[in-house]
Amino acid sequence: MELNKISVLFGFIGFLFLDALLLCMAKNVHHYSFVLKETNFTRLCTTKSMFTVNGQWPGPTISVRKGDTAFVNVHNDGNYGVTIHWHGVKQPRNPWSDGPENITQCPIQPGKNFTYEVIFSDEEGTLWWHAHSDWSRATIHGAIVILPENGTSYPFATPYAEEVLILAEWFNGDVMELIENATATGADPQISDAYAINGQPGFPNNCSNETTYRFPVQYGKTYLLRVVHAGMNEEMFFGIAKHNLTVVAQDAAYIKPITTDYVMMTPGQTMDILLTADQDPSYYYIAATPFVDADVPYDSTNTSAILQYAGNYTPPSSPPYPSLPNVTDRDAADNFTSRIRALASNEHPINVPTEIDTQIFIAVSVNEIFCPNESCGGPNGNRLAASLNNISFLTPTIDILQAYYRNLTNVFTKDFPNEPLYAFNYTGDVGNNTLYPSLGTNVTMIDYGAAVEIVFQGTNVQTPENHPMHLHGFSFYLVGTGYGNFNETTSPQTYNLVDPPEVNTIGVPKNGWATIRFIANNPGVWFMHCHLERHASWGMATVIIVKNGPTNDTSVLPILSENLPICS
Ligand code: C2O
Ligand code: CU
Repeated sequence: MELNKISVLFGFIGFLFLDALLLCMAKNVHHYSFVLKETNFTRLCTTKSMFTVNGQWPGPTISVRKGDTAFVNVHNDGNYGVTIHWHGVKQPRNPWSDGPENITQCPIQPGKNFTYEVIFSDEEGTLWWHAHSDWSRATIHGAIVILPENGTSYPFATPYAEEVLILAEWFNGDVMELIENATATGADPQISDAYAINGQPGFPNNCSNETTYRFPVQYGKTYLLRVVHAGMNEEMFFGIAKHNLTVVAQDAAYIKPITTDYVMMTPGQTMDILLTADQDPSYYYIAATPFVDADVPYDSTNTSAILQYAGNYTPPSSPPYPSLPNVTDRDAADNFTSRIRALASNEHPINVPTEIDTQIFIAVSVNEIFCPNESCGGPNGNRLAASLNNISFLTPTIDILQAYYRNLTNVFTKDFPNEPLYAFNYTGDVGNNTLYPSLGTNVTMIDYGAAVEIVFQGTNVQTPENHPMHLHGFSFYLVGTGYGNFNETTSPQTYNLVDPPEVNTIGVPKNGWATIRFIANNPGVWFMHCHLERHASWGMATVIIVKNGPTNDTSVLPILSENLPICS
């Protein structure tokens, strides 16, 4: 009797203990509600209505732990259909919730709902979400914070506090109109009127001093900055006056810490940066300025926020401003980028393929589409275009994911070439038979589990420029970059297979190449495109379909959602 009681008691305690253990190991489920709606915003003394999530710009932060799942119900109270993408979240086996319009789903129409199931796996650090329909991402975006799993911690001393800083672009006009107009004429789309940090252009922009974003800090403390480049068309330098930055992660994967006074980020990239408030308590400018290595129209303004120390002091009348590299300073951009190495520790190992099964070579070009009688608004009276392997991507009218799983024909073809149709001197005299691309919805089919290598070759066609290429559904290893034409013999000799950074967006150098590797272990339909929005609009995009593997666990999840948007 007595014994029995004791064993029941012990059993109960054991149960509690096990339960607590399970609880702290458990993957958590989070629920968010996004209401898409038009909201008035005033910047640079101009008021406009813009499409936002929950009336906020930037939108709400999604905060999870590694391996969690977030359900995000998106209700569209606006005037046109959009989709949301979870940039850098791999979504294992779940392309249904990836989001790019007419690639994995049709848009959520006004008055409709859709619940995304955002499945986190090995990402840890900072990512972001954004609309993925035309240019709506200019105003519809926010950060994703992925904390270490319970019971684990950062590979550095736990910071005192964290701060999200989102770089973006402000347009005085309506962004959807702006891209429609550009598409109608074939001309370069209008540039933005200002950049912004957390929604505020800040000093020295018109009508912006008062509302400059302020980040309060305490002397002696260390902060983790989660910096997101949500801008549309320009790469940016970022820095804080008189303070060192220590970059510890990129695209939600840890890197070997880099101490620097500036970083260079492309649209799409995210960086985790440690900042110690170790200067005299005062005000210091945090600033971002464009980096542009091409002869293209660009927004030449600067944006700033204020690092504001706590304490009793007289604020300076003009706080120090960081001296960031010049807008065309390619060496400064390269000097930073070339320092990025994966942490590659026991806790955060890397797994870069050394034997390659699928080899793809992609020439990345800006092009023109011929317009009779010089009737278009682009160069030579033509229409601006862009291509991968000389195919300018045509977005289909119903989504490729659905077409693939329902075996619908006439939506896409499975013949994206794994090298340009003919080789040319990509970065030199490109001749004139590469200016005009063909148009198509051509995808690459890849076997489940294949070790894939993609060499992106920038070209001198039309306008050479750095292209931030982004792949959905994966992060990949950036094993090498270089200037000039990729050389099959000498270029691979420079590869870093020891600690290449694991990222989701890489800058292909202007008139240069970049090689990435990954294991195709995520079945689904995955978009790949330049993250400069104007290039994506012009067709610098394609799709990779990773086929199902042999088992259920290696195949795309069944459609969970009853409410998949209807394609009209
Ligand atoms: Cu930021 Cu298609 O993605
Ligand atoms: Cu590009």
